Amino acid sequence: MDFNALTPGKAGWAGVAADALMVVVVGETVPAVPAPLAAALGSAIADGDFALKEGRTLTLRGLAGVKAPRVVFTWAADASAKALRKAVAAGVAQIKVGGTKHLALGVAVGGELGAAHAEAVVAALADGTYLYRATKPSASAPPRLLQASVLCSKAEHAAVAAGLARGRAIAAGVELARECANRPANVCTPSYLAEQARKLAKSYALKVEVLDRKDCAKLGMGAFLAVAQGSEEPPRFIVARYQGAAKGTAPLVLVGKGITFDSGGISIKPAPEMDEMKFDMGGAASVLGTLRAVAELGAKVNLIGLIPSCENLPSGRSVKPGDVVTSLSGRTIEILNTDAEGRLILCDALTYAERLKPAAVVDIATLTGACVIALGHHRSGLFSADDALAADLLAAGERALDPAWRMPVDDEYDEVLKSNFADVANVGPRAGGAITAAKFLQRFAKDLRWAHLDIAGTAWRSGKDKGATGRPVALLTHWVLAQAA
Ligand code: BES
Ligand code: MN
Ligand code: ZN
Repeated sequence: MDFNALTPGKAGWAGVAADALMVVVVGETVPAVPAPLAAALGSAIADGDFALKEGRTLTLRGLAGVKAPRVVFTWAADASAKALRKAVAAGVAQIKVGGTKHLALGVAVGGELGAAHAEAVVAALADGTYLYRATKPSASAPPRLLQASVLCSKAEHAAVAAGLARGRAIAAGVELARECANRPANVCTPSYLAEQARKLAKSYALKVEVLDRKDCAKLGMGAFLAVAQGSEEPPRFIVARYQGAAKGTAPLVLVGKGITFDSGGISIKPAPEMDEMKFDMGGAASVLGTLRAVAELGAKVNLIGLIPSCENLPSGRSVKPGDVVTSLSGRTIEILNTDAEGRLILCDALTYAERLKPAAVVDIATLTGACVIALGHHRSGLFSADDALAADLLAAGERALDPAWRMPVDDEYDEVLKSNFADVANVGPRAGGAITAAKFLQRFAKDLRWAHLDIAGTAWRSGKDKGATGRPVALLTHWVLAQAA
């Protein structure tokens, strides 16, 4: 889909030639929309056909004096980007099934339309028209929407255009993340992820290096390989570098959990919903998506993605509860629960990150069910001892409409990871499980400026709309761009 900022001519919104005109009505009082639309809107509200309530829409055809054959009214509670995103999401549901190829979008904000508004529009349209087809040839035909024009004044044009460009890059990153994560584990293997990274390297100026089992063994990644050893599927450790700043500039490093299927291993998970553990590479997918968005925007930063990727399966070769392994850091880990595998692959990646002399490291992982219990599906869990880094990430999440929430990392939580047989145990008791997981990782990030995002509740949706969300690509991209500025 293509997006542009469009300043209408003398006839205003009503004169715009598009297949559909979406009019976002903002606020409680009947807003000042341009003339031929105002009458229709006024009577629709008076007759009760269009209620000023979230999610409500009204589609009218053949309005006199309006060039676009369809007009879709949709409502936003206020003039914020967040409300606009919801309004457009409701509106796009009305036109995506029809023949609309070119959509024009008018927002009656009553104030200035800015970059954040434009970005929110792109997010809503991209999200609303996304359709997974890779392994479902019978999926309904994709929406025909090819072009979306955001109507704006001359004065707003530059900001809207900039917001659209940023939104488009993020949307493409989000889509890449969703496409990877939605693919089943028999398609999206560690090698598949490595291939996706290589593809990105071809399209953008990325350098990609892929370490196999032997390479990782040579380095001494005993924790990563302990998880990988139960599966026939070859593990991959992906290093993808984007250089947008001077060579000597310290890079930002993103580390993504790339478990392409998490059965739990010998500590096997119950059968119901186990299929959803194909999404356990959502962190890895978000790293690829962010690299894509950042490279597309040509941000002046150095960014490196690290993706440890393997399957977690039970077999005669699997790691067993009680096994002690030696991590890349040289420290030993007692694996009390083989289902706490994410932290095992991440700790070696964090140690690897040290050699990159990074300015900051953020790991992204579908790490704990406990985080889902704590925060549900709206906000990702953010863990960091670095207040400035945490504040930057939280602010990026708010700007990107991809929010996170800071969780505690007091040292008292660390006590439960003591082991009689190794330097550290990989699990504590159930209580505070998201925090103790973060504390485990923190032990391997002592020499780094580090934060951890637990996206177990936000990376995918369950139920009828089961599927990957592409989060937190938007948060990460905003954060990286802000570091470049
Ligand atoms: N990938 C899971 C976390 C998860 C669970 C994400 C449910 C989304 C929904 C992770 O590897 C895991 O199994 N964690 C265990 C940790 C426990 C054994 C300490 C968990 O959360 O149960
Ligand atoms: Mn697990
Ligand atoms: Zn897992």
